Formats: sequence, C-alpha cells, structure tokens
Amino acid sequence: MAQGITNDFFQWVTRCRAILEGNQKRHGHLRYTRPAPHVYEYQWLWDSCFHAISYRWFDIEMAKDELLSVVARQIEEGPDAGLIPHMNYWKPDGEALWGVPERSIITQPPLIAVAAEKVFEKSADIEFLKKLYPHLVEVHRWFDRRRDPDNDHLVSIIHPWEAGCDASPRWDGPLGLTRPNPEESKKKRHQLVDQLRTFDCNIEKLDNNGWFNVEPLDMNGIRAADVRALGRIAALLGRPAEATAWEQKWAAIGESVRGKMAQGNRYFDLNSSTETPIQEESAAQFLLLFGECVDEKGAGHLVEALQSDRFTTPYLVPTSPTTSSRFDPTAYWRGNVWLSINWLIVEGLKKYGYMGEARAIQINSLKLVDNHGFYEYFNPLTGEGYGPDKQSWSTIVLDFAADLGF
Ligand code: GLC
Repeated sequence: MAQGITNDFFQWVTRCRAILEGNQKRHGHLRYTRPAPHVYEYQWLWDSCFHAISYRWFDIEMAKDELLSVVARQIEEGPDAGLIPHMNYWKPDGEALWGVPERSIITQPPLIAVAAEKVFEKSADIEFLKKLYPHLVEVHRWFDRRRDPDNDHLVSIIHPWEAGCDASPRWDGPLGLTRPNPEESKKKRHQLVDQLRTFDCNIEKLDNNGWFNVEPLDMNGIRAADVRALGRIAALLGRPAEATAWEQKWAAIGESVRGKMAQGNRYFDLNSSTETPIQEESAAQFLLLFGECVDEKGAGHLVEALQSDRFTTPYLVPTSPTTSSRFDPTAYWRGNVWLSINWLIVEGLKKYGYMGEARAIQINSLKLVDNHGFYEYFNPLTGEGYGPDKQSWSTIVLDFAADLGF
C-alpha cells in the first residue's frame, strides 16, 4: 500500500506488542505500562491513555487495566479531590520533589474519556465504563474547580508539565526566560514546583504572586474532546441529562476558544491573568481540531497553517514552526516530531473530513518508526530519533496502520 513501509498489520501489532509488554509493570492487582525502561520508570497519566488506545488492538484486558490503574490513584480528599496526578510512582519515590509520597501534585492533559470510549468500542464492556465514569466526572469537576478561576470554561495550567510539552518555547515568556539552554529551562521547571508547594497549587494565589498561569490551546483542545467523549459515555450509561450537560460544556469551551483565543485567522495560548496572547506559534493550535473547537472556516485556517512552509518539514509535524527563531529540531519539545501529538492532529483532521492531510501524517509517522525506531521524539529535518528507542506511546502508530488498511 503506502510507499516503503512494512504494510502488514500483524507485523505492526507484533512490534508494538513487544514494546508495550516489555514496559509493563504489575502492582498488586493493578497493571500499567512505563513510558520507557530505564528513563521513565513510573506511570504518567496521558502516556497511559495513549497506551490503552494502542493495547485495544491486541490486548483489550490490558487496555482496560491501564486506565483503571490511572484512576486508582485519583485524589479523594482535600482541595484537590478529583485530581489525577500526572505521575504515579507506585513506590516510595518522588516525595523530595512533591512533598507527598508516591505521586505528583499536578496533572496532565485529560485524554482518559477519549481513551475509555475507544477501548469500549472494541470491548463493548459496559461494566468497565460504569467503573470509570465517576472518576471521569470527578476529574472534569476538579478542572472546573481548580483550574478555571475565572469560570470562562478555558482551563489553565500552573506548570509546563501539565500540558505535557515540557520545554516548549511557548513557556519561555511566562517562565521569564529569554533564550534558555536546556539546563536553565529544566532548572526553572524544578524551581516552579517549590512555588506550587508553597501556594498549595492554589491558582489564585500563584497568579497573585506572578507565577506561571497559562490557558493553553492544546490542553483546552484535548479537554474539549474529553468532555465530549464523556457526554457520549453518559448517554451509553443511560444518563441523558448528564450527557446533555457535558455536551453543553463542550460547546461552551469551543465558544470561549473562538471568542478569546482567536486573533484574525490565528489562535494563541493566553497568559491567564491578563488574557493576552502568547505570540509563539506552535503545533498546539492544531489540537483545536481534536476538540472540535472551531467552525469549518476556522478549521480551514488551521489546515492552511499546517500546510504552510512553517510546518512543512521532511518529517511531519514539527511542534514549533521552522520559521521561529526558537525552533531547534534537536532540542526537546522545541520543534521535534512527537507521534503522540501526530495522533491528536490526525484525529482532529479526520473529524473535519481532511482525510488526505491526515493520511499524509499517518504515512509519514509509520515511515519514521520503520526507518528509525520507536523513539520518544524525532528530528523533523532528518528523521533521527531521540530519547529512548522503545517509548511506549510511539506504538500509537498502530492506529495509523489500522486506518491505512494494512
Ligand atoms: C516527558 C514528556 C511528557 C511525558 C513524559 C513521559 O516528560 O514531556 O509529556 O508524559 O515524558 O513519557
């Protein structure tokens, strides 16, 4: 089928299965998958959602377990009740950094209802959905309570780690950095954790003291998709009033995106306290398609941006435009290709009927892993892989192989 790619779905399953199973861990009756052996030894929230989406092609029980282990450590009490930590250590690590044992005190993009729905489509296990539903409701209530102080339906992040793209140039300004080298930027992220602890992750207090507080495009795009999936799950569970309420919530997020994040034909992350745009373009804008946050015309503008020279590299999709003075194809999150992000972009393009554009990214992603390996991220100019070469979430290409009909 597609040029120069192993085109046998069974072979793709075999390769992806070997990586995911190699990275699996058991904790009592719970099972989860580490993002990568030796480098990322714990459980990360949005990684696990991607893992479940991959597992659903060959091990539906593990797909369910992956999501159940994520919610097993949802916070039950206190101001952060409902939070799903972005990291669960599953052993006595992390306390020196976070001040609490075995978990972080922040979150990551909520992709869990999306993942649950996809797993349900393959398993038809309504009991699984019933088990997850209350957790999913709580996590989105938590977002409303703790990350949307101005009640405009756009959630903020209080640390770059919450958006999952740690060192993105989008955060330089809000972090007070000009041209940080990787060490400076990493140091800043660690220092910020001290402030989160000082202010108990209270967003108003952090904001009043001038700390990082951003309403990002990608986080809100992903959240919109998750809230919409949650509405469909509520309908499946026979809860029509709740289904309508979640659908209304999704519509309200889209309205705020269009009303506040758009400037002409472009969309920007916002500095939350002033609601002023952060003038640093990135691939995060394309995740508004995933959340169905724009109308047809808006989608057209986003696709134009995606196909512009700024984002056209030999390997797609660079997370920063090549024209940005901050673009660095080799530096972590400063312009590389990430297959998890590609998946979110592809899903969004499909929702608006841009099948050819989606297919181009799918073929490109499969070529990347076929020629280079299942790396954590890639150089968009050369295809060279960086980070671990058995990164669990890079198995998300299995969805692409399935879609392309291999
Ligand atoms: C890095 C990424 C983050 C991911 C984690 C585990 O910190 O920036 O998004 O969740 O690794 O893969």
